[in-house]
Amino acid sequence: MWAPSGHNRQPWHFLVIQDKEMLDRMSDFAVDRMRRSSLEWVRNLAGKDGYHLFHNAPTVIVVSGTHPDEPPLSALVDCSAAIQNMLVAAESLDIGTCWIGLARFFFEDEKQLPSLRIPEGYRPLYSVAMGYKADDYIPTPMPRKSGTVSWYRRGE
Ligand SMILES: Cc1cc2nc3c(=O)[nH]c(=O)nc-3n(C[C@H](O)[C@H](O)[C@H](O)COP(=O)(O)O)c2cc1C
Repeated sequence: MWAPSGHNRQPWHFLVIQDKEMLDRMSDFAVDRMRRSSLEWVRNLAGKDGYHLFHNAPTVIVVSGTHPDEPPLSALVDCSAAIQNMLVAAESLDIGTCWIGLARFFFEDEKQLPSLRIPEGYRPLYSVAMGYKADDYIPTPMPRKSGTVSWYRRGE
């Protein structure tokens, strides 16, 4: 809630879900949709043995945004700043997290959405899975790309 937001609109809502049955139901639904996705990497992910949308985490926070985008204001950007703060804050408490964009396969279904009881006027954007870590140290899976920083300095 303390993330920066354009024009201080604070266009976010956080739904904390701590109900295994609900999370499993959301996962089952999304995975079923993912299996029929036009994107090959999404289909492959959904086909993996034991794949769970939220990695079986016990707590999931659904972040929703209000306000349509009015550039340069964007609820999506503001909510993403809030999400990144949550990931960093959780890590400081030794709580593992995963940003879950694929939850949109659940959010996009108009029939499923009301079951979340998100207040009117908000649209779910992303979710964050949280839980105590199964392993103490999980290395970052991908090497970081090089060449993503450049400088503009006087006289160079
Ligand atoms: C917008 C966004 C959506 C993401 N969605 C998912 C997701 O649905 N499932 C998942 O397992 N990871 C998801 N991730 C996590 C990325 O896969 C992960 O950040 C990336 O592989 C780099 O790994 P690292 O964060 O450990 O450095 C998402 C990350 C971002 C920023």
